[in-house]
Amino acid sequence: MAEDKKKEKSVEKKPVGIMETVLRDAHQSLIATRMPTEIMLPIVDKMDQIGYHSIECWGGATFDASLRFLKEDPWERLRKLKDGFKKTKLQMLFRGQNILGYRPYADDVVNAFVEKSIANGIDIIRIFDCLNDLRNLQAAVDATNRVKKQEGRGSTQVALSYTLGDAYTLEYWADMAKKIEDMGADSICIKDMAGLLLPYRAEELIKAMKENTKLPIQLHTHYTSGEASMTYLKAVEAGVDVIDCAISPFALGTSQPATEVMVEAFKGTPYDTGLSQTKLAEIADYFRPYREECIESGLMSTKVLGVNIKTLLYQVPGGMLSNMVSQLKEQNAEDKYQEVLEEIPRVRKDCGEPPLVTPSSQIVGTQAIFNVLMGERYKMATGEFKDLLRGNYGQTVKPMSEDVIKKVIPGEKRSTARSAEATGHDKPELETLESEMKQYKQQDEDVLSYALFPQVAVDFFKYREAQQSKVDLKKANTEAGAYPV
Ligand code: CO
Repeated sequence: MAEDKKKEKSVEKKPVGIMETVLRDAHQSLIATRMPTEIMLPIVDKMDQIGYHSIECWGGATFDASLRFLKEDPWERLRKLKDGFKKTKLQMLFRGQNILGYRPYADDVVNAFVEKSIANGIDIIRIFDCLNDLRNLQAAVDATNRVKKQEGRGSTQVALSYTLGDAYTLEYWADMAKKIEDMGADSICIKDMAGLLLPYRAEELIKAMKENTKLPIQLHTHYTSGEASMTYLKAVEAGVDVIDCAISPFALGTSQPATEVMVEAFKGTPYDTGLSQTKLAEIADYFRPYREECIESGLMSTKVLGVNIKTLLYQVPGGMLSNMVSQLKEQNAEDKYQEVLEEIPRVRKDCGEPPLVTPSSQIVGTQAIFNVLMGERYKMATGEFKDLLRGNYGQTVKPMSEDVIKKVIPGEKRSTARSAEATGHDKPELETLESEMKQYKQQDEDVLSYALFPQVAVDFFKYREAQQSKVDLKKANTEAGAYPV
């Protein structure tokens, strides 16, 4: 009898996992990805003792920002983090065939990047595509699975970019969940970049997806619209397995819900995370002075810290709104703000109703501005918008407007292939890339940095060489006794 009761209790328990984002998305969202490795390392040991499901610490904009602004080797950062995180799984964000860059790459580059990411310390690779065209994810998924088979490390997570619209019914999401399982992923992520997912919608969504797949589901959202904590609550009740949170000094605003708040909300329930508030407080204590520093220097603006309900009214991500305002300012056309806001959903419909996430958000936003400022829709189109119509980014869920296609790219051939083929990146290119940069190569990973950001990487390589020769010089002189000791 007593045993039966115990059994019943253990069946009921379903602790929710927490992915901590402070080392990636939280600082990408709040301080433009400027957190340097030296801020991260002193707290790694304590973070490793928390018992997080995983730590997101790489990918997204961190790679670009390390090389471009912080003059750091992103691979070196990853190795240092891996040295410190002995127990906790490390997670990264990967932009499908675009890897972490802005164009589609050939499969050999995708393969090499996945291999090196895992070899240097990544455990879980979250892969997404801005159109949710799963074909653009297959190469990265296959590469991760191959490494997993060979090395016993590496896990594939496919992320769906969450959006609203006629095409995005519960059936659509449930069907996608099944497809992701079939393509060989280990888990699914719902990636809500703009904080559009409302609490009760989340409940329906998770239930519908769970009916169609056995894979664990992780939910990623942003606090931008102020709904996120409530959304997590309903999603967890509906069976979601992992939620993405940020330690409180780097939570809320355009970042994620606070880790401690979610941990406390589930305490004593079947979803109890089991994480210690005392230990979490030490992590928060560590990051709080750095937050203050960022606010004082202006790196963290109060503009990103509040609630922006407009993201819900217009379904436009926060980052896209601020881009739009500055673009209009440049054109002295701030009075057109409302008109452009209303044009965005129309442009989005014309091009097949894609999710609005990098790069589709910029493409749709800029075209909407053009349409309003020119006084005639599609009188002029950006190169990227043309590429989208040509099918170079892959397939959209809904068909694009034939009238717009006729007006913008009359008589042109349109592709139905995945992005790498559509843009001619269907042959191996790693060797060529290596030959272009071999004078700077100090490690195999340098070729991949160069592949993603050619100019930025070369600038970094030159900087690195200068630093090294300075150090060598100093060392040599000291050894020769040229410096007083
Ligand atoms: Co995010």
